[in-house]
Amino acid sequence: MGMRFAQHVGFFSSLCYDSTYFWSDLVSSGICVTTALPYANGDLHLGHILEQIQADIWCRFLKLCGKKVLFAGGDDAHGTAIMLSAEKKGVTPESWVEDIWQRHRADIVDFGVDMDVFYTTRSPENKALVEGIYRQLEDNGSIVKKSVEQAYDLEAGMFLPDRFIRGTCPKCSAPDQYGDHCERCGAYYLPTELKDPYSVISKSTPVSRTSEHVFFQLSRKADMLSQWIEGAHLQDAVSNKIQEWLHNDDGLQDWDISRDAPYFGFQIPGYQDKYFYVWMDAPVGYMAAVQKYDQDHDTDFFKPIFSQQSDWELVHFIGKDLVNFHGVFWPTVLLSSGYRPPSALHVHGFITINGEKMSKSKGTFITARDYLNALSPEYLRYYFACKLSDSIVDIDLNWQDFVSRCNADLVGKVINIGSRTASFIHKYFSGRLSGELDDESPYSLFIGKLDQIKSLYREKKFHLVTRDLMQLADLANQYVDSKKPWQMIKQDGREHEVQIVCTTAMHLFWILAVYLQPIIPDTSAKISKVLYRDIQSFDDVKIMFLGQEIDAFSRILERITLDMCPQS
Ligand code: 2FM
Ligand code: ZN
Repeated sequence: MGMRFAQHVGFFSSLCYDSTYFWSDLVSSGICVTTALPYANGDLHLGHILEQIQADIWCRFLKLCGKKVLFAGGDDAHGTAIMLSAEKKGVTPESWVEDIWQRHRADIVDFGVDMDVFYTTRSPENKALVEGIYRQLEDNGSIVKKSVEQAYDLEAGMFLPDRFIRGTCPKCSAPDQYGDHCERCGAYYLPTELKDPYSVISKSTPVSRTSEHVFFQLSRKADMLSQWIEGAHLQDAVSNKIQEWLHNDDGLQDWDISRDAPYFGFQIPGYQDKYFYVWMDAPVGYMAAVQKYDQDHDTDFFKPIFSQQSDWELVHFIGKDLVNFHGVFWPTVLLSSGYRPPSALHVHGFITINGEKMSKSKGTFITARDYLNALSPEYLRYYFACKLSDSIVDIDLNWQDFVSRCNADLVGKVINIGSRTASFIHKYFSGRLSGELDDESPYSLFIGKLDQIKSLYREKKFHLVTRDLMQLADLANQYVDSKKPWQMIKQDGREHEVQIVCTTAMHLFWILAVYLQPIIPDTSAKISKVLYRDIQSFDDVKIMFLGQEIDAFSRILERITLDMCPQS
């Protein structure tokens, strides 16, 4: 037995588990799963979709286990970059983020991601929540005000975030480098150290200006953070990284949560011209999404999920670039304002395409819609599953490999089991299965894999799920090959044996459809239609279809070719 729960005395006890825990030991009331909120400032690309698919597979798995799951996401709608994009387009930031929100939502739905709520941080719920959190922080002395010297663009009339200042590197003199680091020599520095700085917005030379900023006193939260790290479920690499920040020489620094006008965000209570920094209200968007779900469905999940006594798990799926915000600021902000912290972060690596970073100039930048216009999401869902594990290494999408793997595994192994045997059932037995199974088949072995497959899903080792399931598919095909129904049917008196072999194969096909449902839900649904039965639970692997009629076997998934892929 892996995970053990101490008597419930708050979130730490309920969230401590060792890494070998088994799914069915979970005693939490439910699991709230989130994906990072993409900026409402451009189309979703395959990197975003990787994370959505990863979380969706996990949520679908949990739902098939009968677990209560709330899968929440949405858009991150604030910040300088969004404000400037809208300005450039000549529209209000509100209408810009609204438009992108609709597009993001459609992409997510069309990838078969079964999210319960996709909301936005530009919402009244989020505003009220972030204001409430801020008041709590103020009341308990977690807020301090400090004056900050910053680059100011006199022409644009605004303070400049680091990424909007460029200039010559103070270390190697490379021209046109970022405000905080040099791409040529890799040096990091302060924007004030940059030589010949200029504003990306107006091209003018920025001046230095001082203004009062609002800080969250992170420097006082080291013990709180250490305690959270102990109790939360974190991958080793992630936990080590957070410990490193915690124990480095400077320790934790207070966090500037304010930005001066003009800014697209929520005003800080008590100030006319100060706004919450986008990263302050972004993760609060997870909470707003749950509130929105409650309103739309007349449910009451918010309190059970976010109160300090919560016995729900709160699991954030994020990319490795977001560990700092979700693993340092977010848990301490939540704990300092009367809420529970995340129980787990699930961090994944970046996507590369044919071994390289996605790049617009190299034509390897593929939007979610580019892919959807080319191929069914089922292929990409399967391919990503083959590569996704509990590690944070980058994931390569190699189109040649993608085509070979989808054809060999999905079409050549899985679909082949049904297509080669269902036709016999229709041709020779009027579409009716036999009343018994072949006991020389791998049927019991298939059923016996249930716990192992569940446990691999639970641990997010989807690469091992697909590996094991393809081994099962191989066994099913070997079974049919060894029985040779196409020869048997030519021998007088062996018809019944053929019916039994094909019936057995159809049962193996069904079991694979159930096991694969979280990964390729549409394909599994099509398979289950052949057997006139919906898949509702993992226990459905045990359903028998003896003596029953089956539907005609239509084309479920086609072979694909390289030229069908969105890169060409
Ligand atoms: O890096 C990003 O794309 C951010 N918009 C992620 C926000 S995640 C959450 F905190 F909202
Ligand atoms: Zn340099």
